[in-house]
Amino acid sequence: MNALAPPGGPALGHRRNHAKGICFTGTFTSNGAGTALSAARVLAPGQYPALGRFNLATSDANAADATVRVRGMGLQIGSSSADIWRSAMITAPIFPVSTPQGFYDLLRASGSKAPDAMKNFVAAHPEFSNFLKWATTSPWTGSYAEDRFNSLDSFTFTNASGQSSIVRWSLIPSAPPVAITPDELAKRGPDYLESEISARVGKAPQSWTMVVTISNPGDPTADPSKAWPADRRTVPVGTLTVQKIEPEANGPCRDINFDPTVLPPGMATSNDPFPAARSAAYAVSYDRRTAEAADYPRTSQGGTQ
Ligand code: HEM
Repeated sequence: MNALAPPGGPALGHRRNHAKGICFTGTFTSNGAGTALSAARVLAPGQYPALGRFNLATSDANAADATVRVRGMGLQIGSSSADIWRSAMITAPIFPVSTPQGFYDLLRASGSKAPDAMKNFVAAHPEFSNFLKWATTSPWTGSYAEDRFNSLDSFTFTNASGQSSIVRWSLIPSAPPVAITPDELAKRGPDYLESEISARVGKAPQSWTMVVTISNPGDPTADPSKAWPADRRTVPVGTLTVQKIEPEANGPCRDINFDPTVLPPGMATSNDPFPAARSAAYAVSYDRRTAEAADYPRTSQGGTQ
């Protein structure tokens, strides 16, 4: 948690990572296809409440949109506590490192003043080059509504007959992505993404298809830095519809921890070590930020809302 802090110290009252974001509410409509994979009640046909948060993967609550390569979405589906499915997904198709220790090493190296710190990190973590390749070649979009969000981590789904599969999931946007350069995005202003998504959802609800990908035996389920082969079976299980942008300050996302180990019966963690590490880190972040009420909420410009 301390290694995540930017040079000026953590953004008090804010999430210690993905500190800049904007909250939303909507619905998740399950088509029922997911019941073949998991007995989770939120995958039975029907409509369930959704609460989520679009965000930037930075510990700087005032970062300009065009300076942050990776975006994220925290999501909670369901309302009764026994049924809740929480997830926190990112736009990158692979995680930069293969282990939680590797993530710590990355934070230490990128915060280090030692001239060789990053070079040494890259030498010790060859998987990082795949992420760099994505980061430098894949197009940016000018809207959260055009982004795809991926669980990256692998989870175990178990259906009503007791059959288990190891899966990952992604939210595929209905809005076609329009590529934009970071320079063009910068020209639109430091907080453009928040105003854009507010205006867009104000005009019409925005939707994403939730697609579950099922691993084959031997796939790297314990390593989110490794993509699975493109021919793996996928099952669209439902649609997330974002109906309303909610205030980030004092809104319904403020006091929620999108801990990826909060899963309903029918879903569980797998041999992927990240969710447990994330759960521990998110709890510390949550405890710290909720104990700093005097500093929360603030707008991204730094004023109180
Ligand atoms: C060991 C690795 C990781 C660490 C230490 C870490 C750390 C954190 C922390 C401290 C937060 C803020 C939690 C809060 O206060 O509520 C956070 C939020 C988040 N993380 Fe991670 N993270 C890790 C891996 C990942 C991975 C693999 C993903 C996605 C595939 C991810 C996606 C997100 C997202 C989307 C949020 C924002 C959720 C929200 O809006 O509240 N993280 N992370």
